[in-house]
Amino acid sequence: MERAIITVRNLEHRFGDLQAVDDISFEVLQGEIFSFLGPNGAGKSTTINLLTTLMKVQKGEAIVAGHNVATDSRSVRRSIGIVFQNEVLDRDLTVRETLEFHGMIYQVPREKRREIIEDLLEIVDLGSKRNVRTKYLSGGMKRRLEIARGLMTRPKILFLDEPTIGLDPQTRLKIWEHIREINDSGTTIFLTTHYMDEADNLSDRIAIIDNGKIIVTETPDNLKQSLGRDVIRINTGDNRAATSLLKNNSHDLSISRSDDGITLITEKDGSSVLPSILNLLNGAGIDLLNVDVKKPTLDEVFVHYTGREIRDEPTDKVQPRPRPHRRR
Ligand SMILES: Nc1ncnc2c1ncn2[C@@H]1O[C@H](COP(=O)(O)OP(=O)(O)O)[C@@H](O)[C@H]1O
Ligand SMILES: [Mg+2]
Repeated sequence: MERAIITVRNLEHRFGDLQAVDDISFEVLQGEIFSFLGPNGAGKSTTINLLTTLMKVQKGEAIVAGHNVATDSRSVRRSIGIVFQNEVLDRDLTVRETLEFHGMIYQVPREKRREIIEDLLEIVDLGSKRNVRTKYLSGGMKRRLEIARGLMTRPKILFLDEPTIGLDPQTRLKIWEHIREINDSGTTIFLTTHYMDEADNLSDRIAIIDNGKIIVTETPDNLKQSLGRDVIRINTGDNRAATSLLKNNSHDLSISRSDDGITLITEKDGSSVLPSILNLLNGAGIDLLNVDVKKPTLDEVFVHYTGREIRDEPTDKVQPRPRPHRRR
């Protein structure tokens, strides 16, 4: 049975006149990777800050790992790990010291600390960097260290705010792998991102958020399916004959012919209408040379629901938020 590990009801947050989080409700199921996908300023970090007890709830309710964030913040904090949008590392600590220090703060017993640190260094592939000061690490390594630090307390839920922001494509792929691995071992993941491909590739479910509001929550496949416009492109031995054959026999397809083939647009699942198309062509003795079914992309889904594209603006603005133990 699927159980909710996070339940949010009618959560709101205002900064003065600005409604940063506007009456959002959603559930995150135990064991899933759940993403907030939205542009800069959508309210993603504010929501994370509320769910992780770093900001006080003004209105609405949030239950995280069975505990109310407003009344039982200590229990919430014991159940979660956080990786912030902006780097928060002590530059003069080594990789191992960073984890050690975090474990001490959270009262992980010494023996346990040692064991977990070894485990985590392996998971995020930083074993060979254990004695390197964080200021000498690459961006991707720093991110992996922050993820490991978030896992020091063996949390039930890991919050990742824009986990791959500003990283190069290869490093991003690597981080995705780590996130999947952590999730496979049983940790529920709540992540925010403004990258379509990240949400698409990692998430079991995505909530599209814009201007503080959740517009839709669905699996990536269902989001694309909900647009219901699969495009089938075919090329046959006789495109002219094939076009009139299809026009006369397939009433729920929009059909057009061009120099490089025939384009069929269906409101249904493209792969479900393919067999009847193939049968028709076969029966008329028309050779099929190639077929291509294109699903709507998540970009198209996003535009459909929000009326605009996400522009990849620079996101180096500093997020105001509490900062534990930072020394620069
Ligand atoms: N501490 C703050 N004081 C005032 N406004 C803030 C503060 N933090 C965030 N905001 C504003 O709230 C809105 C949501 O911000 P944020 O949650 O950081 O969005 P996101 O993480 O999706 O980019 C933005 O308009 C942002 O400028
Ligand atoms: Mg943010």
